[in-house]
Amino acid sequence: MERIKQALEKARAQAGSNTQHVQPGPRRAAPATLQPAAPPLGDGGIDVNYTQTQVVTLDPVHLERQRIVAFSKTNPNNWAFDVLRTQILQKMDEKGWRTLAITSPTAESGKTVIAINLAISVAHHTQRTAMLVDFDLRRPRVGSYLGVRKTPSLNEVLAGTAPVAEALINPDLPRLVVLPTNEPVQRAAEVLTSAPVASLVSDLRERYQDRTVIFDLPPMMAGDDVMAILPRMDAVLMVVGNGNSTQREIEESMRHIPAGQLLGVVLNKADAEVRRGYEYGYGNA
Ligand SMILES: Nc1ncnc2c1ncn2[C@@H]1O[C@H](COP(=O)(O)OP(=O)(O)OP(=O)(O)O)[C@@H](O)[C@H]1O
Ligand SMILES: [Mg+2]
Repeated sequence: MERIKQALEKARAQAGSNTQHVQPGPRRAAPATLQPAAPPLGDGGIDVNYTQTQVVTLDPVHLERQRIVAFSKTNPNNWAFDVLRTQILQKMDEKGWRTLAITSPTAESGKTVIAINLAISVAHHTQRTAMLVDFDLRRPRVGSYLGVRKTPSLNEVLAGTAPVAEALINPDLPRLVVLPTNEPVQRAAEVLTSAPVASLVSDLRERYQDRTVIFDLPPMMAGDDVMAILPRMDAVLMVVGNGNSTQREIEESMRHIPAGQLLGVVLNKADAEVRRGYEYGYGNA
């Protein structure tokens, strides 16, 4: 555990040294629902003409079983995501960042659980719109954790058989929009570097000033997917699951994050002793 602490300290120093203190600009009121769109993308891009988003009802019992606690305003574990959300939004505002990639060195670290809780927390407790995009094309789990499955999803959007508008869902929470992926995608890294995906990411980022877009990614050591998409992201949040990654894997992953992009490190699944000194696990507070 000492070695993991050292790796996290390094990561924290790396992220901290990249912090600039810029006064956040004024905020506009967030739209309660997605607004009518600008014209669809040309040049073979993905059509992101959002006109209506399907509303789906979530099951609170299923969510709690999946550790999605931010949905319930009374869950005692909410505080951790409130703290995380506040720290993350402050940093993103400082830099004018709107897209956040969530990754980890290795699998099963808790990325998807954190990505969903964070998106819900932003939508629940701020006046912003949060969008959560399942970009883990190898092991997509956002839909199953939320307990929703709807076709078309991002699969059909990537295949060019459905517009994004039809794949989006609004999980009966104002200001939360989810773009789930139903099935694993072949050649995920290739897909993530494609021109249509580049257009999609930039459109999701540019369309609304008050939207925070969270991308749930695969682990860094699983392939080239994360490296392929990171240049398109504003910021990266690294999730390290206690006992899930070795020091070498953590350090190797950190090396691949472009300078200035690392927003912070979340130490997940940690007991109280490990957490002490890590500001509730957020390594870059
Ligand atoms: N803080 C936590 N404490 C205990 N278990 C947790 C915690 N966070 C997540 N888990 C559990 O760990 C498992 C993996 O979580 P999750 O799917 O979010 O990880 P992941 O990093 O997205 O995995 P993958 O690499 O497969 O995408 C799940 O069973 C989840 O419920
Ligand atoms: Mg996951």
